Amino acid sequence: MKILILGSGGREHAIAHKVSQSLMVDKVFVYPGNPGMCSGKFSIEPLYDQKFSHQDLVHFCKNKNVDLTIVGPEAYLTEGIVDLFKENNLLILGPSKSASMLEGSKVFAKEIMMKAKVPTAYYGEFDSIAKALEYVEQSANEKMVVKCNGLAQGKGVIVCSTKSEAKSAVVSFMQDRLLGFNEEQIIIEDFIEGREVSVFALCDGENFITLGSACDHKRLRDGDLGPNTGGMGTYAPCPFLSKDDLDFINNSIFSPVLKTMKDLGCSFSGILFAGLMKTAEGIYVLEFNVRLGDPETQVLLPLISEDIVPLFLAAARGELSSFNKCSVSIKELKAVHVVLASHGYPGTEGVSVRSGDIININKKFNLSDNDFVYFSGVKKIQDDFVTSGGRVLGVTAVAENFPLARSHAYENCELIHFDGVQKRSDIAKGVK
Ligand code: GLY
Repeated sequence: MKILILGSGGREHAIAHKVSQSLMVDKVFVYPGNPGMCSGKFSIEPLYDQKFSHQDLVHFCKNKNVDLTIVGPEAYLTEGIVDLFKENNLLILGPSKSASMLEGSKVFAKEIMMKAKVPTAYYGEFDSIAKALEYVEQSANEKMVVKCNGLAQGKGVIVCSTKSEAKSAVVSFMQDRLLGFNEEQIIIEDFIEGREVSVFALCDGENFITLGSACDHKRLRDGDLGPNTGGMGTYAPCPFLSKDDLDFINNSIFSPVLKTMKDLGCSFSGILFAGLMKTAEGIYVLEFNVRLGDPETQVLLPLISEDIVPLFLAAARGELSSFNKCSVSIKELKAVHVVLASHGYPGTEGVSVRSGDIININKKFNLSDNDFVYFSGVKKIQDDFVTSGGRVLGVTAVAENFPLARSHAYENCELIHFDGVQKRSDIAKGVK
């Protein structure tokens, strides 16, 4: 088989690495990918020298006889690449444009949760700034969460401790162009307190198989301080989800959401990423994403013990029920992933994100079957890898327990250096 993966980050490197291990696969293309992806022993070909439109990607798949395309980032999905590929009889793993609205519109996602009777925070939706401000004023609570409706590259959610902060958030989204434009619709949710976790389900429109759970560290600095980022490190599986919790997530979240989406005529196939909060009262959905997480994928996939390609193929073909199981086979091991980001990342503290620092990888660095380096923001200049902004790369280690996985991951991080490197030193700290 030939597989094409769309995207360029650590998540896509982890997917490429996992599918390239399948005995079914001869060749993996990644568009655009990055030069770090071809540094392994596998047949992965990044296409970062190309400039492809969606239509060009269709031609590429036809010319190269690509058997399956796997979509990483949400933007391709909300732009309708799955619909285009299907019109051209190409097999692709991901939701249609209409089903991608589960991530593309917070208002749509909340409406689906209501219809599916999925537990989620109480909320109001507003297309008028005056009504939103009045709602905040009348609220019985001081703490609330203001979310813009559309995709906002991680900048569309503001957690507010007071009504005054919530009013500022409303004004900044709807009037002061915080996102570079004025958002027409927002939602205001009750704040819920608990522990965040993500669970992933591979779906075929009707059936699903869970891929595991992971916990992300979203803030830039140790102790969950500093600005929000795309994620500075992850660990898996989540140690505080019980078997009952997982049954609840399957029966009361994934199942009814898939049924509701199907009943509405926008069946969901691809990966459904449930961002959850485990509270004293139970599990609530914070948000849905319609793709794998970055950097959650970098801990999820190394823990999967079976060949993922037959599962991806079956999901894309609507044939997951033939597997007759509700979860992939997972190793009895733990995974920890630490992100190394460039100077200035995430660019929200008045310092711009720097590119062009040479990445030195110590010759002692020797990857075993349980250590992985996934490249993200890198370029190649002559023989050197250099940073190209944002999250540069990440190191995953897999071991019998979290402390061991954590120490292996950090030992490997010590062997990689570039000027201005930023990393957290407390990923999975104290996790048992
Ligand atoms: N790490 C969060 C995300 O992928 O959305």
